[in-house]
Amino acid sequence: MTRKLIRNGVIVTAADTYKGDILIENGVITAIGLDLPAAGAEIIDASGCYVFPGGVDPHTHLDMPFGGTVTVDDFESGTIAAAFGGTTTVIDFCLTSKGEPLGKAVDIWHAKSRDKAVIDYGFHLMVSELSDAVLEELPQMIENEGITSLKVFMAYKNTFQADDGTLFKTLQMAKQEGALVMVHAENGDVIEYLVEQALEAGQTDPIYHALTRPPELEGEATGRAIYLTELTGAQLYVVHVTCAEAALKIAEARKKGLRIYGETCPQYLVLDQSYLEKPDFEGAKYVWSPPLREAWNQEVLWSALASGGLQTLGSDQCSFNFKGQKELGRGDFSKIPNGGPTIEDRFTLLYSEGVEKGRLTLNQFVDIVSTTSAKLFGLFPRKGTIAVGSDADIVLFDPSVTRTLSAETHHMKVDYSAFEGMEVKGEPVSVLSRGEFVIRDKRFVGQAGRGQYLRRSRFGESAASPAAAQPSGSVS
Ligand code: URP
Ligand code: ZN
Ligand code: ZN
Ligand code: ZN
Repeated sequence: MTRKLIRNGVIVTAADTYKGDILIENGVITAIGLDLPAAGAEIIDASGCYVFPGGVDPHTHLDMPFGGTVTVDDFESGTIAAAFGGTTTVIDFCLTSKGEPLGKAVDIWHAKSRDKAVIDYGFHLMVSELSDAVLEELPQMIENEGITSLKVFMAYKNTFQADDGTLFKTLQMAKQEGALVMVHAENGDVIEYLVEQALEAGQTDPIYHALTRPPELEGEATGRAIYLTELTGAQLYVVHVTCAEAALKIAEARKKGLRIYGETCPQYLVLDQSYLEKPDFEGAKYVWSPPLREAWNQEVLWSALASGGLQTLGSDQCSFNFKGQKELGRGDFSKIPNGGPTIEDRFTLLYSEGVEKGRLTLNQFVDIVSTTSAKLFGLFPRKGTIAVGSDADIVLFDPSVTRTLSAETHHMKVDYSAFEGMEVKGEPVSVLSRGEFVIRDKRFVGQAGRGQYLRRSRFGESAASPAAAQPSGSVS
């Protein structure tokens, strides 16, 4: 039996902020209270720190092939960086190929992650076609692999994009099986046409990536996905919401009582479209899909997070080196690999820009960075909170530190920081995963392969172990 006792910290959950000690036995929280007896436990002093549940990052792409290249950060460097940043669970997107069994894709993702992850992880499964074979196999993936969320791309024509019929059938299947459907909501057909027109007109610089993917096409696709969801009675999670047009559609649907959820990402909260105009092709570092928007959208997203219009923050970690990878798109913006490095800074950016700047309460911060993702993706209350019976995934966070984000100091392998030079308040000092230090006093002390694969519960079902009866993981 290993025992640890965290003392002198301020515990923060999505619901409460209070002083207390946390007893951890064999990786699980077994008691919370004032002045708990040490009883042979290793004492961890959390003086001056907030004690947060570890972050749950619901959206990563580690070791992912994309645009003719592969992300530089894999399950080892990516999860080490996540841990440094205060995240203890990631859910990564398992890509599938048309005509291939789903099981084969899932096995590939297990092979990428098994010996590498330093924190716990799960998979979402991409659906690009619903052939008879896929329809037969999908319920087995949900049941046996615990993959209870399905991703449909409405963009990336000729690669990942699925048609509306496939999205509709996926929603019907999800309703029946208790899965959450996730969409990348942009109108891929119209975007392809706009990109063609821009290139024909000689418009090849990174800024045209943003100009050929206007916010109307994100709003339109978001609204379309919501209508299809309403028609099936299923549940929908819109990933990486960037703009007022899409945020409004989600907020409206939620007011109607539909089970529609929205995620935004740190880059859309703090960066804007003008970054794509940086000289010497540096704008390529800021190419995401959907693209960065005009700066006024940032406050729309912040207020949606604060008012429940949007629910979660995903990193959408998808890192490509500037040298040799982003550069593939010199002379043709459509060849710039889409995505950027965000896994390490997601947690602190939300704290610093959200809590420190008065946009979010401490409890809202925890809800957005950890709890709601755990609930939506079938991990709560095992993950996403500090409670008796929960895994001891815990971050000791020093709010008094001021630091500057930089590629010089980050732990991702990628050769630039999207947030270079940004000053932030707060830093994870120590991070525990299932009661084991992964980060101790700002140093990595974990091991590759210690992370466990998470079989997740179906949508709306609790992931409490029978031994630790907890309130159910209901979501609103
Ligand atoms: O630009 C992005 N977001 N890259 C990652 C793939 C995706 O669309 O989420
Ligand atoms: Zn498996
Ligand atoms: Zn996407
Ligand atoms: Zn993504």
